[in-house]
Order: sequence, then structure tokens, then C-alpha cells
Amino acid sequence: MVKRIPVALTTALLAMCALQPVAAQPSRARATADVDLSIRLKEVQANPTLEQNLFKLGRKVAGVCLHCHGEGGNSMNPDIPNLAGQNPAYLLEQLRLFATGQRRNEFMEGMIKSMDSDEKIGMVLFYSAQAVKHKPATNLPLVDKGNAVYQKQCLTCHGANGLGNEKIARIAGQQPGYLRKMLDRYRTAQSGPLAQSIMTPTARGLSDADVQAVVAFVSAIP
Ligand code: HEC
Ligand code: HEC
Repeated sequence: MVKRIPVALTTALLAMCALQPVAAQPSRARATADVDLSIRLKEVQANPTLEQNLFKLGRKVAGVCLHCHGEGGNSMNPDIPNLAGQNPAYLLEQLRLFATGQRRNEFMEGMIKSMDSDEKIGMVLFYSAQAVKHKPATNLPLVDKGNAVYQKQCLTCHGANGLGNEKIARIAGQQPGYLRKMLDRYRTAQSGPLAQSIMTPTARGLSDADVQAVVAFVSAIP
């Protein structure tokens, strides 16, 4: 279970997150609401100098996120997701969902509201370039069972190495508590993005034992 975050910490983190505008960069988009993040990401990736500047900005933003998501996006808490090595498009989509309230997490929603569009792009550039730390498997028979579930039910979309693609989340090496929480949400969602996701039918077909096994396997993929 995710521990409740003390109000004082939340306030302090939100204050820290209100990063100072960088005045000497006219090419930075300050507006948040009307910037299409996926178009902005492509624009930035086509401009190496801007990309480097926003990467540095992202590293600064990550100084706030590391309290929960860990150094370089490798979380130390099994219930909080790694951001390291995650797909840029997937990260941006999650930020959009938090910002529009379609994905609910009180703290993340507040945090995202205080970030401008280029801080979001910078954060995505930074985290997607970080390596995920490998957590070796401990329960090998369970991992074998999970491997069988994965090959049959997950591989077609998430890929042989769990790395996903532009539209599909990277799940390789993801935190086990978070994987379980997300699979349970897909299994039980009544409405919203999770209920409508292309992976929901697959998730609904999993037994509790399948979930336990596939989580053990996926979290140990290097
Ligand atoms: C106080 C702890 C905390 C802090 C600080 C924090 N997060 Fe989070 N974040 C979470 C939790 C918990 C979740 C999982 C929410 C859920 O269960 O849906 C999450 C989820 C996310 C996700 C979705 C990941 C996925 O795999 O779907 C993104 C992206 C994210 N956070 C980005 C950030 C960024 C960027 C920052 C810093 C600006 C940040 N977070 C700071 C706790 C935190
Ligand atoms: C039909 C394609 C498809 C299949 C099959 C599929 N997934 Fe997914 N999965 C996705 C997509 C796309 C996403 C990104 C979010 C979304 O659109 O729902 C996702 C997201 C996830 C997430 C959330 C990741 C995060 O960081 O929040 C987990 C966990 C996950 N999948 C695990 C699995 C497992 C385990 C299996 C096999 C039992 C599986 N998926 C089968 C397409 C699929």
C-alpha cells in the first residue's frame, strides 16, 4: 500500500516544483494548456540545442521527483513506478491524463499542474534516457510460471523484452507492487481510460495466480 503523503511534505514538494522560469530562453513554451505535447516533443527532438537544454531542465525537475520515483527514475518503493527507460510518448500521455483528471492521483495531479510544457518535455527526455536497474528474480518456479503467461498473453503487445513502443508502456523491470496495482485496476475498471484500453480484455482473463506469476516475471526482466 502507498503510504499517505504528509501534507507538509506535499506542500514543500509542490513549492520546490514551481521552478523559476529561465528568462534567457525565448524558444521555451511557457503556456501549458494549449501546447500539444506530442507535437512539441517532435519539434524539440528535431533541434539538438533545444533538446540538450530541455534535457538539462528535465534533470533539474527530476530533483523533485526523486523523493518518490528514485534517483534517475529507479524507484525504491515497490508501489511507486520507475520512470527510468519509460517510453517518451507513454510518459507524456500519463502527464496529459493526470492534468485532465482522467487519471486520478491527488498528489500527481497537483504536481503536474505546477509544471509548464517544456518542463514536461524535459522530464520525459531525461527519464526515457535513464537505465533501469535490474532486480534479479528470487522465486524461480513462480517466474517460470509467469514467463509462460507472458509468452501467451502479453508478448504480442509488450514485445519479447517488455520494452513496449510509442503507444505501449515499458513494463520490463517495473516495480512489482505497481505492476500488481495496475493489473488490478485494468481488471476492475468500470469506466475511463483503463476500462477502454486495448489490454483490458487480456487483464480480465487473468486469474489471481496468473497476476502473481506474471508480476514476478515482468519485474525481473532486465
Ligand atoms: C510524493 C511522491 C511522488 C512524487 C514527489 C512524484 N510522484 Fe509521480 N507518482 C507517484 C505515485 C504514487 C504514482 C503512481 C500513481 C498511481 O497509482 O496511479 C506516480 C506516477 C507517476 C507517473 C505515471 C507512471 C506510469 O508508469 O504510468 C508519472 C509519469 C509520474 N508519476 C511523473 C512524476 C514526475 C515528473 C514527478 C516530479 C515532477 C513526480 N512524478 C513526482 C508519486 C510521486
Ligand atoms: C492488446 C495489447 C496488449 C496486451 C495483450 C497487453 N498489454 Fe499491457 N498495455 C498495453 C498498452 C497499450 C498499455 C499502455 C496504457 C494503455 O493504453 O492502457 C499497457 C499498459 C500496461 C501496464 C501499465 C504500465 C504502467 O507503467 O502504468 C501494465 C502493468 C501492463 N500493460 C501489463 C501487461 C501484462 C502483464 C500483460 C499480459 C498479461 C499485458 N499487459 C498485455 C497493451 C497490451
